[in-house]
Amino acid sequence: MKADMPLRDIPPHREGWTHADWAVSNSGRSHRSRHGNGALNQDASSASILVVDDDPRSLTAVEALLADTGPKLVLAASGEEALRRVEETDFAVILLDVKMQGVDGFTAAKRIRARDRSRYTPIIFVTAGYEDVSAMFKGYEAGAVDFIVKPVVPAVLKSKIAVFVELYQMNDALKREIAERKKVEAYLRTSKQNLRALAARQQSIREDESIRIAREIHDELGQSLTALKMTLTWIVSRLPPDRSAFNGKIDLMFKLIDGTIQTVRKISAGLRPEVLDQLGLVAACSWLARDFQVRTGIRCGIVLPDASVNIDKERAIAVFRVFQELLTNVARHANADKVDVLMEVRDQLLTLEVKDNGKGIAGGKIDSASSLGFLGMRERVLPFGGTVEVVETSDKGTWVRVSIPLK
Ligand SMILES: Nc1ncnc2c1ncn2[C@@H]1O[C@H](COP(=O)(O)OP(=O)(O)OP(=O)(O)O)[C@@H](O)[C@H]1O
Ligand SMILES: [Mg+2]
Repeated sequence: MKADMPLRDIPPHREGWTHADWAVSNSGRSHRSRHGNGALNQDASSASILVVDDDPRSLTAVEALLADTGPKLVLAASGEEALRRVEETDFAVILLDVKMQGVDGFTAAKRIRARDRSRYTPIIFVTAGYEDVSAMFKGYEAGAVDFIVKPVVPAVLKSKIAVFVELYQMNDALKREIAERKKVEAYLRTSKQNLRALAARQQSIREDESIRIAREIHDELGQSLTALKMTLTWIVSRLPPDRSAFNGKIDLMFKLIDGTIQTVRKISAGLRPEVLDQLGLVAACSWLARDFQVRTGIRCGIVLPDASVNIDKERAIAVFRVFQELLTNVARHANADKVDVLMEVRDQLLTLEVKDNGKGIAGGKIDSASSLGFLGMRERVLPFGGTVEVVETSDKGTWVRVSIPLK
């Protein structure tokens, strides 16, 4: 910008511009700030504006013009200095004189645009009204987003700058919000992983505990009951021949002991079916299906893979517990009289399908917060990359598929 350019030639204080001319009135703004107070947002503490002009008087004039606005002003007296400033700071907008000694406005704009950090910083070119229109096109090519033609109308300059400052602030707020959300997301992800790990750990502690209690009940109580029965048999064999008065009581005691032995077996099998540890998943599921049919009266057809199929203990427990839960659901909720079970292993993927002919799952019940059954089943198989899905459910019944990769 040459010293004879209009902006410099009309320094506000000297050329009789009144304060009212410098203050941006609401009516005089082409773009209104969302804050609606007619001034640049005063809390624009983080936003800075770079004003580049090789004429100090011009810089002083713009400084005076923008002094009452919020953003911090950074002045650069040459294109070279502007490039240095852009290295140090992210600006909300750059007011760039087109004609300067040394690096001119177009060259400076191109270099500013070439930097990653300032690629999208808005640049307003300040140009003389009489300059060629082609210079404007050149300016747009160089990366200008707007022009201000001299003589500069203060209200126009202020309103243009206000728009870019507001954009910058919105962008800044958005960036902060995104960063905050990312932090929260990361926290939630970690917290979810921790909860999963905790649930898995508790599950395995529970399984170990079940094994221990089942063994204790089986060994301690089972042996005591057997000893009791043997002792009773011994006493009975040594009673006097005329023992008719005791017969009723003796029979009752035998029945009580046998009943208790059955109960102990049932309890310890419920805690941890021995068959699962001793004969494996296939035999345990077969036993569970038969037991279910006897206990509930619901017919249970089951198709199982070859018993020799190789499934590790952890997966076997997970599948067995899920199967148990699915059958419990059928007994508790389905009102079915038949359930078909299909277990197969193909390409190292075990699938277990349980289909009942009951009333179906009422809408929303699967995801209900109080229904921990499905949640628990999914968590059981998740560590192995397994899934539990309700394939179909209607008033004709429910079909659930469990898949669990074996490797
Ligand atoms: N086979 C089924 N037939 C009909 N409804 C079912 C069946 N299985 C589940 N449901 C419905 O889906 C709901 C959710 O089942 P889920 O196993 O998650 O929880 P729950 O059995 O109610 O409680 P929990 O298993 O935690 O003791 C059940 O309350 C029931 O209404
Ligand atoms: Mg359930």
